[in-house]
Amino acid sequence: MAFVSVGLVVHRAEEPLAQHPGQAKFAMYCSACHRAEPAKEMVAPPVFAVADHYKIRFGKNREAFVAAVVDWAKRPSEDATLMPGAVRRFKLMPPMPLPDVELKAIADFLYTHEFPQPQGYRKHYRAEHGG
Ligand code: HEC
Repeated sequence: MAFVSVGLVVHRAEEPLAQHPGQAKFAMYCSACHRAEPAKEMVAPPVFAVADHYKIRFGKNREAFVAAVVDWAKRPSEDATLMPGAVRRFKLMPPMPLPDVELKAIADFLYTHEFPQPQGYRKHYRAEHGG
């Protein structure tokens, strides 16, 4: 191996070895609420669960995934939610009206990053959504 990746970033074939530019922005603007792990005092669904719901909805359609996350961050609404259980539990997310270029970078990071899913999450998903 000529290159060794640094830290806990999981690299996939189509990603450059450097950290995704959206990762630092996610850490700055989103991760205070969207934590990596489920915890007792949660104020929002953990990031892996958010990414998973959008990946299941949009499959391999990266553009549609990114557009949906950008739209959501600008205008969260009960009509657009893919996570109605989270809206009931945590109340609607406040809008995050960042410039499009920043929201797109964050959304693309959510699309490309492989977030580890804790044990028991699949069961939770099936209980919430069926299937
Ligand atoms: C102040 C806390 C807070 C911050 C900061 C925050 N969120 Fe959220 N977010 C929430 C809560 C609460 C929910 C669950 C309820 C809901 O879906 O509205 C949520 C849900 C979501 C969802 C799922 C929406 C759905 O219901 O389909 C996405 C996508 C999302 N957030 C993206 C982001 C992004 C991207 C950022 C950073 C730009 C961000 N959030 C910052 C609180 C936050």
